[in-house]
Amino acid sequence: MLSRMKAGLSLTRTRPPEASQELFRVREPFTMVIFGASGDLSRRKLLPALAQLHGSGYLPDRYAIIGSSRTPMSDDEFRTRIVSALPERSGDKEPPVDAKLLESVHYQPTDASDPASMRQLRARVESIEQERSLSGNRLFYLAVAPEHFAAIINNLADVGLIHGKNDEHWSRIIIEKPFGRDLESARQLNAIITAVLDETQVYRIDHYLGKETVQNILSFRFGNAIFEPLWNRKYVDHVQLTVAETLGMEGGRGAYFDTAGTLRDLVQNHMLQLLCLIAMEPPAALDAQSIRDEKVKVLRALVRYSRKTAAELIVRGQYGVGESDGKVVPGYRQEQGVDPRSNTETYVALKAMIDNWRWAGVPFYLRSGKRLARRVSEIALQFKEPPLRLFRHLSDGDAEFDMPAPHANVLVLRIQPDEGISLSFACKRPGMKIELEEVTMDFYYGEAFAERSPEAYERLLLDALRGDQSLFTRSDEVEYGWRWATSILDAWAALPPPHFPNYYPFSEGPEEATHLFAGTNAQWRPLPGA
Ligand code: BG6
Repeated sequence: MLSRMKAGLSLTRTRPPEASQELFRVREPFTMVIFGASGDLSRRKLLPALAQLHGSGYLPDRYAIIGSSRTPMSDDEFRTRIVSALPERSGDKEPPVDAKLLESVHYQPTDASDPASMRQLRARVESIEQERSLSGNRLFYLAVAPEHFAAIINNLADVGLIHGKNDEHWSRIIIEKPFGRDLESARQLNAIITAVLDETQVYRIDHYLGKETVQNILSFRFGNAIFEPLWNRKYVDHVQLTVAETLGMEGGRGAYFDTAGTLRDLVQNHMLQLLCLIAMEPPAALDAQSIRDEKVKVLRALVRYSRKTAAELIVRGQYGVGESDGKVVPGYRQEQGVDPRSNTETYVALKAMIDNWRWAGVPFYLRSGKRLARRVSEIALQFKEPPLRLFRHLSDGDAEFDMPAPHANVLVLRIQPDEGISLSFACKRPGMKIELEEVTMDFYYGEAFAERSPEAYERLLLDALRGDQSLFTRSDEVEYGWRWATSILDAWAALPPPHFPNYYPFSEGPEEATHLFAGTNAQWRPLPGA
């Protein structure tokens, strides 16, 4: 039985919130062009994030947001979309949307693969910049399918919309995932980008890095003295990283997902980023180069798989038909847009090893899947058991009995939901006997802080506007990540096809995943509440 002890937390602010806001405010006027502005990402994430940044005073007095996609739309129609995209718009008593925000928003229909259409975009950008006295700083957001990346980047350069690295005004480009589908395609994409842009102008986005709880990993590790001495192979038995989702293919995602699978969609990017933050050495400084240098070292030390080790250390899964609340839940192969004979994995569990001084011999177990029992992302460090089981044999008068071994200490970083951190440890149960019970010390963001956590896209857009690349991935980082993931893809291509489907919707995933712990005392942590 677990009991919960609240860590008593009192906060001392060193800086009033207004001052920190001023520090992070974008000072220079800018123009932001969103390619794919009529799409889902723009509606659900980008426009609300920009509106929030505007409302919180982070944007400068003068700026322009220009939506762009093939869909014909007027400025006013696009503005109406923004208004309806804002979360608070669903209520009856809606506060008016700030007129200044709306008048900064424009729309220009563009076929980005057509140079003539891109020249029209350039003319529109320049006329808006002139009208609004904007200096010419430009941020381009590629919220489009990856097959359009190359054409947009090349055409932007050809029509002269991108300034050079040393020009008076900056040009930056944010590129959405997926960044390639294997090592070769990621390299090709990097080559196309770096032919026209300097690396300092490229912002490859991984929205996990914008999450407050993910940013806190480095603060937690390097802002405290007590954890880091234990953070290595001497004290850590193994690490478990979980990104579980209840979602299946809602929102018409099936067609895209069927070409990707969980390894490409989630493990290669979000989970590798979590792994890097947990495993990396302290950076020389808290800047983009130092942080990314350390992450790259982790990725370089990740052991790649052969066909044999992939068969032993990686489990693939796909959900089948099931039932929930008396209703039939379609299996993955029955989802809209999915090939009925698809062998695309909706679940991956694997044992990864990092061959470096700190982590040699410590397994990192990663699992991620769709249609699992709970939505939960967490990182759990399980520490080794105490060297001596002093409390094992206790005599009770003449009788001697075995005490169950207490669980080893577990430190859990809860990324979402229920954001927080917990540490479990053994404690003497009150009474005359010496009886150990596992208890936890819990920290909950919601209880400790009054501030709202900014959405990941708010943070990342603000950083890109301010020119801070720390939370974006560098070209070599992406390539080393793909080098590891491609060893898996190659092994899978050579292995016999998996037996799919192999797990029920809203379950804990395929049974085979438990075999990864064979020969150890450990097991997967139950998905909380499952
Ligand atoms: C996206 C993936 O990058 O991340 C989706 O493409 C996944 O498949 C999503 O659902 C998860 O993000 P979050 O922030 O909801 O954990």
